[in-house]
Amino acid sequence: MAQTPRPSNKSLDSGASAHRVTIPDLGNRKRDGDPIVALTAYDYPSAAIVDAAGVDLVLVGDTLASVVLGYESTLPVSLDEMLVCLRAVRRGVRRALLVADLPFGYCHADSSSSALEASVKFLKAGAQAVKLEGDKTRCPLVRQIVDAGIPVMGHIGLRPQAVHSMGGYRVQGKTSEAATELLDEAVALERAGAFALVLEGVPAEVAGTITRTLSIPTIGIGAGSNCDGQILVLSDMLGLTVPAAPSGPETLRARKPRFVREYLNLREQILGAVENYAADVRSRNFPGDKETYRLSEAESARMPGS
Ligand code: KIV
Repeated sequence: MAQTPRPSNKSLDSGASAHRVTIPDLGNRKRDGDPIVALTAYDYPSAAIVDAAGVDLVLVGDTLASVVLGYESTLPVSLDEMLVCLRAVRRGVRRALLVADLPFGYCHADSSSSALEASVKFLKAGAQAVKLEGDKTRCPLVRQIVDAGIPVMGHIGLRPQAVHSMGGYRVQGKTSEAATELLDEAVALERAGAFALVLEGVPAEVAGTITRTLSIPTIGIGAGSNCDGQILVLSDMLGLTVPAAPSGPETLRARKPRFVREYLNLREQILGAVENYAADVRSRNFPGDKETYRLSEAESARMPGS
């Protein structure tokens, strides 16, 4: 159920003079046991608001494919679509660390040059790091991007880009063998140079073991409370994600995932606001006097037909 948010007294300028969050800051947070707050953002206004609220890490996630562009999965989103959103988010973020997601097709084991080229484009557009989904097979790619001076955040567990090979959007690491495999992947990605790992859709116990084993921070989404930080998709926590038709195919957000907490129900609020606007226009209640420009009395008197 959506909670009523408490009004904030922060202004959108509050990030302007604040210390910019760096990658070493995130490592210090893990060491100090101070949870990392991360959210996705896809456009300028939401990025400015999320940043002013004091979020530590903003991700331009490829979830924008489904929650913003309306694709059924994250697979179709292009690098150019990601770049448009990244540039808009960059203009809004002043304090948080800004990370951009490498889209599907750029991170296969044999695609090192396209992954590197895409990462360079992201950094030139203002990202401070890139995220890539993948298991151990991505380690050489991670090392290559890191060696080029580009920080990399890994993403293991439920990997939406691997929806077809995983047979749907399913929780991963549910058996001791699968959990051990995930732990191995996490260790391998840390060794390859990743500065943090997103753990998506894994049992809390498994995420806890990975978090305790690694020296880099883990950021969980559907991975319980034992991670070093948490991330949610902004549209999910604001209640803005449009659910798919019940009879349609299994899409990334066909149903609200169990791990989502809706802090607001913007779908209903926007629907209500637009219905009110439509009713006001139809009843000629909008625009009212306050929303109307008027001639001075003298000019009005000179108007033809006055
Ligand atoms: O693309 C995305 O938004 C993500 C988050 C769910 C972590 O990868």
